[in-house]
Amino acid sequence: MIRFDIITVLPELLESPFNHSILKRAQNKGLVEVNLVQLRDYSTSKHKSVDDYAYGGGAGMVMMIEPISKCIEDLKSQRDYDEIIYLSPDGQLLDQKLSNKLSLSKNLILLCGHYKGIDERIRQHLITREVSIGDYVLSGGELAAAVLCDSIIRLVPGVLSDETSALYDSFQDNLIAPPVYTRPADFNGWKVPDVLLSGNEKFINDWRHEQALDRTKARRPGLLDNDK
Ligand code: 6GU
Repeated sequence: MIRFDIITVLPELLESPFNHSILKRAQNKGLVEVNLVQLRDYSTSKHKSVDDYAYGGGAGMVMMIEPISKCIEDLKSQRDYDEIIYLSPDGQLLDQKLSNKLSLSKNLILLCGHYKGIDERIRQHLITREVSIGDYVLSGGELAAAVLCDSIIRLVPGVLSDETSALYDSFQDNLIAPPVYTRPADFNGWKVPDVLLSGNEKFINDWRHEQALDRTKARRPGLLDNDK
């Protein structure tokens, strides 16, 4: 069982991804708990604001310490957290290795940023890890949080069936997955490779491994000399 508390000013943005398909089934099976926390509920101001002007001037608002600190303290008073993760484009790049590691957690807090970012003191004192999902900028951390959760949840034992097991995903062995085919065996002359129709399990496994290697060399050579 892994629990995510996701702190956001836009919980609506995260409802859909968690209420369909595999992520929904994982929660229904009791393997995963996802709690969306509205940061505004922790605002002390009259208008429930959670951001303010930047000291020193400049464009863009900054998310304030008080609501975030109150929110995190409230969550921490209820359980222990393995990590308090801030989603930010300048964080550590998400890869399969990090998802594998985080999938062993019991409780995670994910903090979604907005505006020009969050007061640096939150990052210094309250956050244990900062994660980015790639070198491009999103409008907020919510979509990144959904990506991070999805990549973790599918690794939780029991979430995927044996047939779809995450063990065979691309990147799990630093290889890209081999190509797959389904019926018909011949679509207007576009044929499925003979070996896949041969019924010879060893030939098929060898072919798949070879394809995975070739693809990785061609598309992502850097993966091959990556440490796990
Ligand atoms: Cl985690 N947040 C935002 N705002 N943009 C991103 C990102 C995160 N990762 C890549 N781009």
